Amino acid sequence: MSDNVRPENMARINTPALAKAFIDEQIAALRAQIGDKKVLLALSGGVDSSVVAALLIRAVGKQLVCVHVNHGLLRKGEPEQVIEVFRKQMDANLIYVDAVDRFLDKLVGVDDPETKRKIIGKEFIDVFAEEASKLDGIRFLAQGTIYPDILESDVGVKAHHNVGGLPESLNFELVEPVKFLYKDEVRCVGKELGLPDGMVYRQPFPGPGLGVRCVGAITRDRLEAVRESDAILREEFARNGLEGKVWQYFTIVPDFKSTGIRDGLRCFEWPVVIRAVNSIDATSATIEEIPYALLNHIADRITKEVKGVNRCLYDLTPKPVGTIEWE
Ligand code: XMP
Repeated sequence: MSDNVRPENMARINTPALAKAFIDEQIAALRAQIGDKKVLLALSGGVDSSVVAALLIRAVGKQLVCVHVNHGLLRKGEPEQVIEVFRKQMDANLIYVDAVDRFLDKLVGVDDPETKRKIIGKEFIDVFAEEASKLDGIRFLAQGTIYPDILESDVGVKAHHNVGGLPESLNFELVEPVKFLYKDEVRCVGKELGLPDGMVYRQPFPGPGLGVRCVGAITRDRLEAVRESDAILREEFARNGLEGKVWQYFTIVPDFKSTGIRDGLRCFEWPVVIRAVNSIDATSATIEEIPYALLNHIADRITKEVKGVNRCLYDLTPKPVGTIEWE
């Protein structure tokens, strides 16, 4: 049997009891595999890498070294949440790398979406490899590979999505404790491991992060407009019962300006585009019908609170014909 085929008799993990049984089994298997050696993990704060981190912390404690790379394209509050949950609450061995300037400097003037993705992906690998080279005695590399990643890479669906995939040349033995799990099972295990709901039920977030939502060549001020408007949208969705109901929602700031009036004076500022879609597997998507009063309230907050923004639009385009992200 191939190492990459889910065992046929493996029950779907959909109850706390099944999650607990999986956790106990994995802890034993991880201890047997790792022994007294050290393991390295790139911890993004997404559900898959977070669950792998939590499992490994239970199994081998401080033998796990987590590296969280802040590439400047994360959502508001994300790096802080990773530090709070893993360093403070779980007492993990966590290296936080502030690589914001390094990434943003490399991206100056680059407007082609695929080139942006490649720069972000390569820089991520470079930063991670540099951190790895500073550490002694690392034998294993843990990854948050899940079963759909294996299925999709077999048929070549998602090659361009693998930003952050780490190079084989790092020469570590792989540890992939959730590689046979589907997303809903990973969430069930994460909940049982005590991770916060905001992490376990997080909406999908692309590897290149806000970089593909700051359309065209990224500038720091427009990137802040993406981050701040996204934070307002998430706050309002959470307050109004849409968090966990809508599959993916975020804002985009295109690279053009239009005329408006602020404090009685002409202003020339960016628009913010809101996108809120429902999907099962991201290959197609429909538009969430946000109540008009809520849309109105969000537009009001965004145009008042986000610096450099004087207009707010709602993207009505399903996938196809529009992709979910704008780049
Ligand atoms: P699109 O825009 O292709 O997005 O309709 C489908 C899903 O994939 C996510 N996405 C990415 N995820 N790296 C990722 O890890 C990427 O480069 C990337 N591009 C899109 C997108 O957010 C949506 O959930």
